[in-house]
Amino acid sequence: AIERTLSIIKPDATKRNLTGKIVAKFEEAGLRVVASKRIHLTPAQAGAFYAEHKERGFYGELCAFMASEPVVVQVLEGEGAIAKNREVMGATDPAAAADGTIRKEFALSKGENSVHGSDSEASAAREIAFFFSGLELVG
Ligand code: CMP
Repeated sequence: AIERTLSIIKPDATKRNLTGKIVAKFEEAGLRVVASKRIHLTPAQAGAFYAEHKERGFYGELCAFMASEPVVVQVLEGEGAIAKNREVMGATDPAAAADGTIRKEFALSKGENSVHGSDSEASAAREIAFFFSGLELVG
C-alpha cells in the first residue's frame, strides 16, 4: 500500500551539511518528499516528540541533542514507505547498520545517528500530525 512516514534529518547531519545527500538516498529508494521544513526544536518540543522514551536513561541526552542544531522534518510517501524508510536508514547503531544505508555512511553513534523514521503506521500518523497540518502535505 502507499504509505506516508515521518523522517527527521537530525542535528549531527544538518550541521555537517548532509541534508541533500540524505534526501537523495530516500529519493533513489523511490520515496517522495511530500512535505519538508527546517526547524530548530526547543528541548520541550523534542521531549514531547520522544515522550515514549521518557523512562529511558538516554532521554535527557536525546532531547538536548535534538534541540542542539536545526533539523529537517519531512513526510516521505511511497509503496511500503514506513518499512522502506527504515531499510534505507539502517540499524539504530551505525556499527550494526548494513552497507549503503544512511546510518552506515553518515551516523556518528547510536545517539548522533543522522536520521529518525517512524516505526509503525500508528507512530507515522502521530508523528506526521505532530509536525504538519493536512494543508502542508502535497502528494
Ligand atoms: P530514533 O529513531 O530517533 O528514536 C529514539 C532515539 O533514541 C534513537 O533514534 C537513537 O538515536 C536514540 N538512542 C537509542 N539508544 C540510545 C543510546 N544508548 N544513547 C543515546 N541515544 C540513543
